[in-house]
Amino acid sequence: MKVIEVSKHGSPSVLQVRTREQPTPSHDELRISVRASGVNFADVMHRRGTYPDGPAPPYVPGFEVAGVIDSVGNTVEQFEVGDRVVSYVVGGTDGYAEYALVKPSHTFRVPDSLPLCEAVAVPIQFLTAHNCLFEWGNLSTNDRVLIHAAAGGVGTAAIQLAREAGAVVFGTASTDAKLDRVRALGCDHCINYEKTSFVDAINHLTDGDGVDLILDGVGGSVHHNSLKALASFGRLVAYGVASGERVS
Ligand SMILES: NC(=O)c1ccc[n+]([C@@H]2O[C@H](COP(=O)([O-])OP(=O)(O)OC[C@H]3O[C@@H](n4cnc5c(N)ncnc54)[C@H](OP(=O)(O)O)[C@@H]3O)[C@@H](O)[C@H]2O)c1
Repeated sequence: MKVIEVSKHGSPSVLQVRTREQPTPSHDELRISVRASGVNFADVMHRRGTYPDGPAPPYVPGFEVAGVIDSVGNTVEQFEVGDRVVSYVVGGTDGYAEYALVKPSHTFRVPDSLPLCEAVAVPIQFLTAHNCLFEWGNLSTNDRVLIHAAAGGVGTAAIQLAREAGAVVFGTASTDAKLDRVRALGCDHCINYEKTSFVDAINHLTDGDGVDLILDGVGGSVHHNSLKALASFGRLVAYGVASGERVS
């Protein structure tokens, strides 16, 4: 089968098409004929060699796959050959391949109405957004939520979920073109942080009250400044450091 391999740490040019033997599922695994592989920020960090304890090259990247099951281990009961599924690939490797081995516990059926290339965004980006908003962020209807990097993968998922939950949604991004996309997804208040301080914008838009919840996948100064945009008893969920600046 064909795979995409990271030959050494570096820029996208280190990604190489290679041939590997098709994997055989063990008794408790599924094999998916992959139609779509998710491309995540963590894949990029792995490739650059900046992810703590990331895989050593050469390796095949890929945290999530969507496709059709073409082989099942002999103790698997929940799935059968032909099921359309999406799955989180444990360890974050081997998803950029024509066939991938996955665990049933990390696999979900995909309804026929959902294209596989859209379903593949669910395991990491939508589940992260869902957990940040509802498990850790305790979002309620009418809460005001600020979503940083709103045009990114987790951000676009969070905008849609927060909107669906009846929250008032504020989003930041670096360009007006990104904010047009964010607005189309249902963001009520779009802030271009290159043109205006997001702290000033939130203060202005909330009459000085601040927001109830902030999702921060950027880190560094964004994290620290976010504390100035929170309402009393507000919650800040820090789930990533896209800026590369860790929060100390
Ligand atoms: N904890 C978890 O389980 C989990 C799960 C998924 C993702 N994450 C983390 O969450 C963060 C966002 O993930 P994502 O999938 O949404 O990423 P993404 O789609 O690549 O979006 C990241 C956004 O961050 C902003 N950004 C600010 N500074 C940046 C910089 N120096 N380099 C690149 N982007 C920068 C950019 O938006 P602007 O141009 O608008 O600033 C960019 O669009 C990453 O750190 C990722 O590793 C964590």
